[in-house]
Amino acid sequence: MIIHRKQHLVALEEQLQGCGECPLGKTRNKLVFGRGSEEADIVFIGEGPGEQEDLQGSPFVGRAGQLLDKIIAAAGLTEEDYYICNIVKCRPPGNRVPAPAEVQACLPFLRQQVAYVRPKIMVLLGASAAKAIIDPNFGITRGRGKWIQMGNFLVMPTFHPAALLRDPQKKIPVWDDFQEIKRVYDEMKAGTYENNADNEE
Ligand code: URA
Repeated sequence: MIIHRKQHLVALEEQLQGCGECPLGKTRNKLVFGRGSEEADIVFIGEGPGEQEDLQGSPFVGRAGQLLDKIIAAAGLTEEDYYICNIVKCRPPGNRVPAPAEVQACLPFLRQQVAYVRPKIMVLLGASAAKAIIDPNFGITRGRGKWIQMGNFLVMPTFHPAALLRDPQKKIPVWDDFQEIKRVYDEMKAGTYENNADNEE
């Protein structure tokens, strides 16, 4: 019997409901697993749930999430094109940055989640996601906007939408990054994509 991606993801989400791998599970309201298309070629990865996400149990549903949805739609991507999740699945109290031990505890579950979706493109939203996935020393201001090949994935780090709310000057570089993501995605679908990304391995 073939078990479909959605069933794998539902099972992983259920497993995480009882997760005790780090202390965040004790203080959260709801587990925030993921939203969007399980068949998507693009996965957006943020840092961790904020207040609204923790209350609603869905990623990027607060102010930063509304901005992210607008940018995604303005770039011409539709709901079948993407899936959204976070590095950590439970809200760090007071919206602090997740501690390295919390990130390490949650990363195996993110890897599993991404492996089930099998995207071609991973977009890392902000420094926490880029440091967790690419390199702990990654600098988002210098490193954003450049493709990195990591295994089967093309990875694009960009600024977090919450950073745009604090600093509107970041809107232009993020818009450039999203147009580049759309360009590559369209070429992949058309079979005309030529890979010039830096290789991590
Ligand atoms: N910020 C994130 O990084 N993730 C969310 O889900 C919401 C805000």
